[in-house]
Amino acid sequence: MTLRPILIHPDPRLKTVAKPVDRVTPEIGRLAEDMLATMYDAPGIGLAAPQIGVLSRIFVMDCVKEEDAPARPMVLINPEVTWASDETATYEEGCLSIPEQYAEVSRPASVRMRWTDLDGATREEEFGGLWATCAQHELDHLNGRLFIDYLGPIKRQLITRKMQKLKREKARA
Ligand code: NI
Repeated sequence: MTLRPILIHPDPRLKTVAKPVDRVTPEIGRLAEDMLATMYDAPGIGLAAPQIGVLSRIFVMDCVKEEDAPARPMVLINPEVTWASDETATYEEGCLSIPEQYAEVSRPASVRMRWTDLDGATREEEFGGLWATCAQHELDHLNGRLFIDYLGPIKRQLITRKMQKLKREKARA
């Protein structure tokens, strides 16, 4: 298990449409383990493979909030939305690739997703609440879309400039 460096926006890999996973191999299993460890370490509630520079359609999430509740690490391979509610929900979103920047984004309040799990089996589940927002945010990453793409151009540019400055400072350190 290895913690992987998380790419910071702007980065062309975060704007790329990721490729479907052909087969769930042991290598994919190891990648998922690394992604979960990296997500929990950050800490975050979701992480998509492109955020660690792997352009494959995989994301991980665990949106359990209660401290005494057991963790629920989920690995979704080739996820797709099979249904979305007309009702929307607005959450203040953040992203491990856009550290310390938050903004309200409205999305369908509930979604059904179908995906392949680590055993190669097809799974389908309906997500609501924070799980629905997180799952859609992570699926966006697989399509090269970030939460700031939902904001107006001025706010998006402001955040992007902050991130460019952060990256310059990190490069100098
Ligand atoms: Ni994100």
